[in-house]
Amino acid sequence: MVLSTGYNRVRTAVFISGKGSNLKSLIKFSKNKKSPISINFVISNTSKAKGLNYAELFKIKKKVLNFKNKKLCEKKLLFILKKNNIEMICLAGFMKILSKNFIEKFKGRILNIHPSLLPKYKGLNTHKRVLKNKDKYSGCTVHFVNSRLDSGKIILQKKVKISKKETMNSLAKKILAQEHKLYPKAILKIFNL
Ligand code: GRF
Repeated sequence: MVLSTGYNRVRTAVFISGKGSNLKSLIKFSKNKKSPISINFVISNTSKAKGLNYAELFKIKKKVLNFKNKKLCEKKLLFILKKNNIEMICLAGFMKILSKNFIEKFKGRILNIHPSLLPKYKGLNTHKRVLKNKDKYSGCTVHFVNSRLDSGKIILQKKVKISKKETMNSLAKKILAQEHKLYPKAILKIFNL
């Protein structure tokens, strides 16, 4: 990936909808000397997202846009991102689907983390489906975002073994712990670091 605005680090916005544990791990990573990115904005589609507290805590700008009128919200979003010289977007538990038009504007510069070994189990309720199918392994994937859900080019994956007494909760916890390591690694990878 090539830097374009002349800042030292690639100015990144993280989009969230919930707890924001991946946001927290990305913020921590961005403070590392080796990090090619800085986190300069947090976007949420709901004011209820607990992860917004991390923006507060780390003094990062934030904005809530409810996406009820997607077209209008994306217009506002593009304005905010441009004004803040945002070059890259990391989706981290963001529960809204971005339009083709929006994705086009950030082509090749939007990443997502998904709690399954894509291309298996795109969409929601991954852990439930994995357990129902009695799979032996699951995991997480960081990929580029294109206009088809969870279908962009895969950057990195991490596999985890499913134990005999695995529950949805234990699996979610196990995978989330791996997500926190995988997202930073994937970012290093796309910058050839
Ligand atoms: C993660 O499992 C992520 O893969 C999925 O949503 C969850 C978000 O968790 N898309 P958090 O908000 O980062 O804690």
